[in-house]
Amino acid sequence: MSFRIQPAAPARPNRCQLFGPASNTKLFAKMAASAADVINIDLEDSVAPTDKDMARANAIEAINAVDWGNKYLSVRINGLDTPYWYRDVVDLLEQAGDRLDQIMIPKVGCAEDVYAVDALVTAIERAKGRTKPISFEVIIESAAGIAHVEAIAASSPRMQAISLGAADFAASMGMQTTGIGGTQEDYYMLRDGAKYWSDPWHWAQTAIVAACRTHGLLPVDGPFGDFSDDEGYIAQSKRSATLGMVGKWAIHPKQIALANEVFTPSEAKVTEAREILAAMEEAKARGEGATVYKGRLVDIASIKQAEVIVRQSEMIAGS
Ligand code: COA
Ligand code: MG
Repeated sequence: MSFRIQPAAPARPNRCQLFGPASNTKLFAKMAASAADVINIDLEDSVAPTDKDMARANAIEAINAVDWGNKYLSVRINGLDTPYWYRDVVDLLEQAGDRLDQIMIPKVGCAEDVYAVDALVTAIERAKGRTKPISFEVIIESAAGIAHVEAIAASSPRMQAISLGAADFAASMGMQTTGIGGTQEDYYMLRDGAKYWSDPWHWAQTAIVAACRTHGLLPVDGPFGDFSDDEGYIAQSKRSATLGMVGKWAIHPKQIALANEVFTPSEAKVTEAREILAAMEEAKARGEGATVYKGRLVDIASIKQAEVIVRQSEMIAGS
């Protein structure tokens, strides 16, 4: 129990984050025209080391020149273990206009990683008289990141979202897989000789959701590498949405519609939530704190559960 009110996460849709390498300029206009809520221009692992300077210049040019409409515009900088990241921050903050909304920091391992970027961003914002503060999203994709996730969530007022990066996470944890998210062949239970697959990403996802909800951030599921497997992407997204995540990355445009579909509460779910709220209003009028809806118990906690779905639906509809 706590007397503190849980802070609300930023009220903006974050159902799909579309990535594209900043070295591939022909993607920018397509990304801007897509149905993704968030655009992540990548300077990190989809850009070869020899292309880092070119990609950074492309990103700045695109931020200033492309019409991004109402997209939330983010750039993924290089990790703090590289020689590139400080130049990413300096050039972006000095040269990209106010259209830039967010910096995404990969491979965050501790709160001090965020503090370091925050210090640099804050100094440049002041020096340049930037009036719109840049927000942060971080990727949890290492053993250290997941071990320190709560402190990372609390690390800066700039923090808005945390994603799980399955591939680097698996590598850092020493997991025996080359898959990027989804079902892992060897992660199964046996019963009467039959295999039942369970979800190796589950605990990391719930740790991220708990840290995000504690500190008013958006929890997001990261990439699903096999972009020819729509059913696999949908199944992974549904598990993430059920656990409390608000969206998922797209690494190919065909994944955008899938994410938007899963992370927009369905009409059936919204209708049911509204019926539960109405049933509880009637119960309240009778002086009761609990009642029966379609043969099952609903009570005051059910109001909060129903409100999560209704609020999310209204926020998306109003955006
Ligand atoms: N954003 C917008 N449009 C994209 C896109 C993206 N990320 N990826 C591909 N497209 C476009 C292509 O340009 C092509 O357009 P066209 O029909 O006008 O020619 C169309 O979608 C179909 O693309 P396709 O041929 O299936 O894929 P590809 O071989 O061109 O590219 C990838 C495949 C995986 C290399 C590419 O999708 C990509 O770079 N994805 C992002 C990778 C990334 O950012 N990773 C970092 C985060 S994990
Ligand atoms: Mg990564």
